[in-house]
Amino acid sequence: GAAGPGDVAGGPGRPDSVLVRAARGEPVPHTPVWFMRQAGRSLPEYREIRAGVPMLESCRRPELVTEITLQPVRRHGVDAAILFSDIVVPVAAAGVDLDIVPGTGPVVAEPIRTAADVERLRPIGLDDVTYVDEAIRMLVAELGDTPLIGFAGAPFTLASYLVEGGPSRTHARTKALMYGDPDTWHALCARLAGITGEFLRIQARAGVAAVQLFDSWAGALSEADYRRFVLPHSTAVLDGLADAGIPRIHFGVGTAELLPAMGEAGADVVGVDWRTPLDAATVRIGADKAVQGNLDPAVLFAPWPVIEAEVRRILAEGLAAPGHIFNLGHGVLPETDPEVLTRVVELVHAASAR
Ligand code: CP3
Repeated sequence: GAAGPGDVAGGPGRPDSVLVRAARGEPVPHTPVWFMRQAGRSLPEYREIRAGVPMLESCRRPELVTEITLQPVRRHGVDAAILFSDIVVPVAAAGVDLDIVPGTGPVVAEPIRTAADVERLRPIGLDDVTYVDEAIRMLVAELGDTPLIGFAGAPFTLASYLVEGGPSRTHARTKALMYGDPDTWHALCARLAGITGEFLRIQARAGVAAVQLFDSWAGALSEADYRRFVLPHSTAVLDGLADAGIPRIHFGVGTAELLPAMGEAGADVVGVDWRTPLDAATVRIGADKAVQGNLDPAVLFAPWPVIEAEVRRILAEGLAAPGHIFNLGHGVLPETDPEVLTRVVELVHAASAR
C-alpha cells in the first residue's frame, strides 16, 4: 500500500505501526526510522525549553517531558517517539544520590563498591516514578498513530556509572569489582535488573509500543565475560517483559563480538553500531531477529552525497534481516544540523518505499 509514516496504529482491530511490524519481521510499506537522542541539543526548540531547568528535574515534569518528546516527531516526521528521560532516572528513584552534569553525564555522589553499598539500592515501584507514568499516558494520547518507545539502561551500563561514580573510558573500577568480588558484582546487577525490569513494566503498562534496553558500554567486555557477568542479568530484564507483548530492542556500542549473545538475552531487535554492516550482523545474530541501525552519527557532518550513499548502502544491507529499523549507530551528536536529520528521514522513506 501507499501508507505513510503515520497511517497505521496499534489498538484493538487496528494494524500495528510500521515500527512494530518491522520489529516483528512483518511486511512494511517502508523502512521505519527514528534516531537515538533525537530529542536533545541538536534542536533549537529543545535548547530553548530546557534553558534553566536541570536535566533530572526536566525528566520529572510530565508536561515538559511530553513537549520535548514530541519536538523531533513534529520536526522530522520520524516513525517513533522515544520517551525523554535518562538511564539514571530509575536509579535516582531507587535512592542513589546523583546528578546529570552538562557536558559530562551522570555523576554519583557516593559510588557503589561494596556489598554494604549495594544495600542502598532499594526496589522501585510506581509511586517512585509517577511522573514517568503520567508523561507516557499524556504522550500516548498526543501521539495518535506514532508509536512511543520506552527505555531503560541495562545492568552493566548502569553498574559502570554507579561503581565508577561517573563516565569512564576504561571501566577499570567496574571490572575490578566484577573480577575481584563476583558475589557483590552479581548482587549489584541483580538489584539493577530488578529496578530496570520494574521501570520497563511500568512504562509498558502506561502504554509504550516498544522498549529499548541500552547497554551502551557492554562493548568494553569480551564475549566470555559478557556471557558470565552480564548476560544473565540482561536476560532477566528482557524475560520480565515477555508478557507485555511489545518488541524489545537491545542496543550497545562496539558490540560486534557480542551481537549473538545480545540477541540470546531475549531481544526481538538487536541494535548495531556503524562498525558492523547489517548483513554481517544478521549472519551473527541469526535470521529470526530484526536489526536496528546503523549510520555513523559523524557521517551527518559529511556532504549530502556521502550521507545519501551511506543511507542507501545501509538500507540495502538491512534487507538481509527479517526486519530493519533505520537509526544511527549511536546518539545524535549535539552539533548535528537538524535539517540534515529531516532529510535523512525523507530519504529513508522514499528509498525504501515498497
Ligand atoms: O531522544 C532520546 O534518545 C531520549 C532521551 C535520552 C537521554 N538519555 C536524554 C539525555 C536517552 C535515551 C538517554 C539514554 C542515556 N543516558 C544513555 C544510553 C544511550 C547512549 O547515549 O549510549 C546513556 C549512556 C546516558 C547517560 C548520559 N546522560 C550521558 C552520557 C549524557 C550526556 C552528557 C552531556 O551533557 O554530554 C546524559 C545527559 C543527557 N541525557 C542529555 C540528554 C538530552 C543531555 C543533557 C542536556 O541536554 O543538557
